[in-house]
Amino acid sequence: EIYQATCSAPVNIAVIKYWGKRDTSLILPTNDSLSVTLDQDHLRSVTTARADPSFGDLSSYPDADAAAAHLTDRLWLNGEEELIKPDGRLRRCIDEMRKLRAAKESKDPSLASLSKWGLRICSENNFPTAAGLASSASGFAALIASLAALYELQPEVSSSQLSRIARQGSGSACRSLFGGYVAWQGGKEADGSDSLAVEVAPKSHWPDLHALICVVSDAKKGTPSTAGMQRTVQTSPLLQHRIKEVVPERMAKITEAIQKRDFDTFAAITMADSNNFHACCLDTSPPIFYMNDVSRSIVQLVEEINRASEAEGLGKKLAYTYDAGPNAVLYAPKENMPAILQTIRHYFPSADFDDTFNILGNGANAS
Ligand code: DP6
Repeated sequence: EIYQATCSAPVNIAVIKYWGKRDTSLILPTNDSLSVTLDQDHLRSVTTARADPSFGDLSSYPDADAAAAHLTDRLWLNGEEELIKPDGRLRRCIDEMRKLRAAKESKDPSLASLSKWGLRICSENNFPTAAGLASSASGFAALIASLAALYELQPEVSSSQLSRIARQGSGSACRSLFGGYVAWQGGKEADGSDSLAVEVAPKSHWPDLHALICVVSDAKKGTPSTAGMQRTVQTSPLLQHRIKEVVPERMAKITEAIQKRDFDTFAAITMADSNNFHACCLDTSPPIFYMNDVSRSIVQLVEEINRASEAEGLGKKLAYTYDAGPNAVLYAPKENMPAILQTIRHYFPSADFDDTFNILGNGANAS
């Protein structure tokens, strides 16, 4: 018999940014965050996981430590083998998933001993990893979803429980287990038991909101987010203000805006939070610059479009947000998108922005 499962997971783009860890090993954040999950047509990771005794079989070793040394889990990312380091994030995620399967097997001895067998895992992104677009979020979410499917853990193990494990792969990955509007509750506990993702609203609640990704540069970014955010934690006084004063109020307000489908408030908070996050990067020593001149001119264009629209009493037309790179993600009601794209093309005639609309999508799922 073949034990294998394939799952895909989408990218999510935060509107309240995660930036900073209170525990770097468990990946526990310094603040809550909130994101919108994109559809899987344009940006997604697909992962296939297979368990087989020929990949190593722990049951043939009496002592657990000796056995672990013989486990031959292997993983390929976009066709290249990725080393599973003994104390790395991949190892931790796989071990946590294997533990859940082992618990299930001990309750039901008729199940095949998948938890004792080695794994072969293949993961592919349908977008270039170097594009500066979050690939770790969809990658780890797809890894966790495929192992959950292989090990038949759901529905006993909930998506929020799985998000707690995906979080240990990459913080932002925990939010890609859900579709629509998703909050990562940072939690208080030292063991991370309350640091997990929850659905704020399904995509069906506000399907009208669309996203447009403007790829300003597909060069690999300068400071990786993992290193950059800890430098900010260690050196930025502004981050402390962000954690204590700025984010808690914004989380409450943007959650309410989503519930009411209030685009004006959603847009205002999204842009303010992107700017506050990049201000914290600038407040880091030495400073971190993610946005470039093109990023900043897109900010000015969006502000100008909104100002003109508000002058007519029509409210905001769109919002921008930037992650740890120069690419803009624009959020807008679907009906505004054709005009937005036209304006952007007018002002950036030579730019080859990715003009794909990313309709809000579902979270990780079996395919
Ligand atoms: C700017 O999730 O990539 O995109 O937990 O160290 O893997 P690690 O960091 P990562 O950081 C994402 C930062 C961000 C903001 C966000 O997605 O909330």
